[in-house]
Amino acid sequence: MASRGSFSSKIGFIAAAAGSAVGLGNIWRFPYEAGENGGAAFLLIYLICIFLIGFPVMVGEISIGRSTQLNAFGAYKQLGGKKWGYLGYWGILSAIMFLSVYNVVAGWAFAYFIQMVDGKIMHITDFGTHFSEQISDVSDLFFYSLGFMFLTAFIVARGIKKGVESASKILMPALFIMLLALIAYSFTLDNALEGIEYYLIPDLSKINLETVYNALGQAFFSLSLGMAALITYGSYMGKQENIVNSAAWVTSADTAVAFLAGLLIFPLVFSQGISPSEGPGLVFVVLPGIFASLGAIGPWVGAVFFLLLCFAALTSTISLLEIPVTYLVDEKGYSRIKVVIVTSIIIFIVGIPSMLSQGAVDFFTNFTFYEGKVKTIFDVVFDIFSDVGLPLGGFLMSIFIVKRWKINNFHEELAKGNPSYKGSFMEKYLKFSISYFAPIFLGAIFVLTVLQKFFGIKLI
Ligand code: TRP
Repeated sequence: MASRGSFSSKIGFIAAAAGSAVGLGNIWRFPYEAGENGGAAFLLIYLICIFLIGFPVMVGEISIGRSTQLNAFGAYKQLGGKKWGYLGYWGILSAIMFLSVYNVVAGWAFAYFIQMVDGKIMHITDFGTHFSEQISDVSDLFFYSLGFMFLTAFIVARGIKKGVESASKILMPALFIMLLALIAYSFTLDNALEGIEYYLIPDLSKINLETVYNALGQAFFSLSLGMAALITYGSYMGKQENIVNSAAWVTSADTAVAFLAGLLIFPLVFSQGISPSEGPGLVFVVLPGIFASLGAIGPWVGAVFFLLLCFAALTSTISLLEIPVTYLVDEKGYSRIKVVIVTSIIIFIVGIPSMLSQGAVDFFTNFTFYEGKVKTIFDVVFDIFSDVGLPLGGFLMSIFIVKRWKINNFHEELAKGNPSYKGSFMEKYLKFSISYFAPIFLGAIFVLTVLQKFFGIKLI
C-alpha cells in the first residue's frame, strides 16, 4: 500500500477537499438558485441545511474513507460486506457520469475566459445569442472540454501529494484573492446596494417547502456530498488528523465562497437593472453583458471572473476523477498514470452526447420529455446523478453508519486525532443528525424528487 500516497498535512487535505467543494456549484449555480428562490431567504435556509445535514454527512464520508484507507467500493465492502460494496460502485459510476457533464460546463468557462482575454467579447451585442452559439459550436466544444479534461488528468496523474494537493494549494488561495478583488470592484458600481439588500435581507414570506428542497439539493452539490468524493479524499488522510475540525474548515470555506460569489454577482446584476432570477444563464449571459458595458476595464474584470470560475471547476474535476482512479489503483493494482489516461478518455467520450446536447445535435438536445419540459441528455444525466443521486447517496450512507457500521465505530474513528471528542456536544450532535435528520430529510427529498421528475407528481 506504500505506493498509494497520502496528503502531507492537515492543510493539504483541507485545501484539496475545499477545492472539491468550491466549484461551479458555488459560483455558477448558487447565485442563480439564490436569485430564483428569494435571495436572502434562500441563503438562510441554505445555511440551516448545511449545519443540520451537510456538515454531519461530510464528517460521515470522511470517516468511512479514513477508517479504511480505501476507495469508495473497498471502503464500503470492508466495513459492510459485499452488498454494501454496491453503494461504493454507485458512487464511482455517479462520479464518472457527473464529471462527464460537469466537464462540459467547465469547458464553457474556459472558452469564455479565452474570449475575455482576446477581447472578442467586446464586439458582441446579443449575449444570449452568443451563448447559444457558443454552446453549440462543435469544434470549440471539443477543444475546450478536451483541454479541461487534459488539465484535470495531468494533475491527477501526478498523484495525491504532488498533483491534487499542490494544485489545490495554489489554486484555492488564488481563487480567494480574485474573488475579493472582484467584490471590491463590484461594490463601487451604482445600485450595488440594492443588490446587497436583496441578497442579505430575508423576506421570510418567500420561504416555502420548495426553498428547503432546493437549498438542500444545492448544499449537497456544493459540499461534494453523496458521491464518495470525500470517502476517497478521506482515505488519504492521516490517522493523527482531526476529522471534525477539518470538515468544519472545508464546510466554512465552501460556504464562504458561495456567500461571496453572491456578494459579487448581485451588485453586478442590480447595477444593470437586471432581474436576479435569470436561471443557469446568469453567469454566462448576464455577466458577460455587464462586463462588456464596463468600458475598457470590462474584459479584464471578465477575464479574472472566468479564470476564477475555471480554477474553481478544476479543483472539483480533479476530485471527481480521483474517485474512479483511486478505485482502480486500489482494487486492480494498475499504475496511476495508466488508469488516469484510460478513465479520462472514457469520461470524455461518455460526455460527448451531453456536450452536443445544447443545440449541436437535435437528437441529444430534444432527448426526452418530463417534468413538463423537453430535456436534453445533459439535463437527464444531471437529474439522475445529481438531483436524485446525491440525496440518495447521503441517505444510504447514513443508513450504513447507523445500521451496519454502527454509530460507536463511527465515534471511535472520529476520536482518533481528537482527544476531546468523546463525551462532547459534537458527539451527541453528530449522532443525532446521522441517525435522524440526515436519513429522514434525505430520504424524503429523494422520494419527492423521483416522484416529481419521473412521475410528474408534485407534492410540494
Ligand atoms: N462541489 C462541486 C461544486 O460545487 C462539485 C463536485 C465536485 C461534486 N465533486 C463532487 C459534487 C462530488 C458532488 C459530489 O461545483
